[in-house]
Amino acid sequence: MRKLLAALLLLATGSNALAGPMEDREALIDHYRKILPDVRFENYIYGSLSMNPGAKSQYDDFMSFPSYSMDLEKGQKAWEQPFANGRKFSSCFPDGGRNVAGNYPYFDEAANRVVTFENAINACLEKNGEKTLPYGSVELGLLTAYAKSLSDGMKVDVKVEGKGALAAYEKGKAYYYEKHGKGSCAGCHVDNAGKILNDEHISMLVGQATHYPVFLGGTDITTLQQRFTQCGRNMHARPQALNSETYNDLEYFMTYMSNGLPMQTPVYRK
Ligand code: HEC
Repeated sequence: MRKLLAALLLLATGSNALAGPMEDREALIDHYRKILPDVRFENYIYGSLSMNPGAKSQYDDFMSFPSYSMDLEKGQKAWEQPFANGRKFSSCFPDGGRNVAGNYPYFDEAANRVVTFENAINACLEKNGEKTLPYGSVELGLLTAYAKSLSDGMKVDVKVEGKGALAAYEKGKAYYYEKHGKGSCAGCHVDNAGKILNDEHISMLVGQATHYPVFLGGTDITTLQQRFTQCGRNMHARPQALNSETYNDLEYFMTYMSNGLPMQTPVYRK
């Protein structure tokens, strides 16, 4: 009886009873608006820099003449280089790869798994009889950085539709909020966003997935999942492999949280 009452009560409360990804995202944005009232939503893409005008102005200087331009050209060359069969990467994506990266990761129903943008690049290589690139390699990082730059300005638009997609999203979310090693991702990036740690303001989850891969220190190409590894190491979490189901689900959840914000890839990060 008590269970039935609880179920009826849940139904009666309307939107709470149907809480899902959209409600999660709205609640998170509300939370950041409360704890960081001076940071405007459109500046969430700058993460830590949105709370530090000095660092933001150094960033702007760097970005007006980025020292990684030559590296990015390597990524461009790799993207434009025809395969042995004469086709190119652009043949694998709608509109030659322009304004598509914001739709990644997506959930592939048939394969029952999350597909990241890097997975799509490797799938394109495979489809055309070429060797795939290892996750975490500089080659794949630079190629991804250039390919995603073709979607600069596109708003992140990740969809979570259907049972399988929702299950992957929930797994990513659980990983984000659970304790691993000494803490949880959310402990810092949700509860303590805006606080200073090792000279940097802790960024908010919303906005983090809009600009990866980044050049750390202006030189080291670093994918979003490589950045997970770095925070994971700092918190003494059990290491997870790049492109593992855990990290792909985590990327799926985190990228959904950046829906509606414009992409810009790559950028400088400290
Ligand atoms: C002890 C606090 C702490 C924990 C726990 C933590 N991080 Fe971080 N994280 C930081 C700090 C500090 C930075 C550097 C400043 C910034 O950009 O937020 C950072 C940066 C990042 C960035 C880069 C943001 C950007 O715009 O470039 C991502 C992505 C990230 N963390 C994801 C995670 C994930 C995923 C987890 C959990 C596996 C996690 N972090 C756990 C403190 C933490």
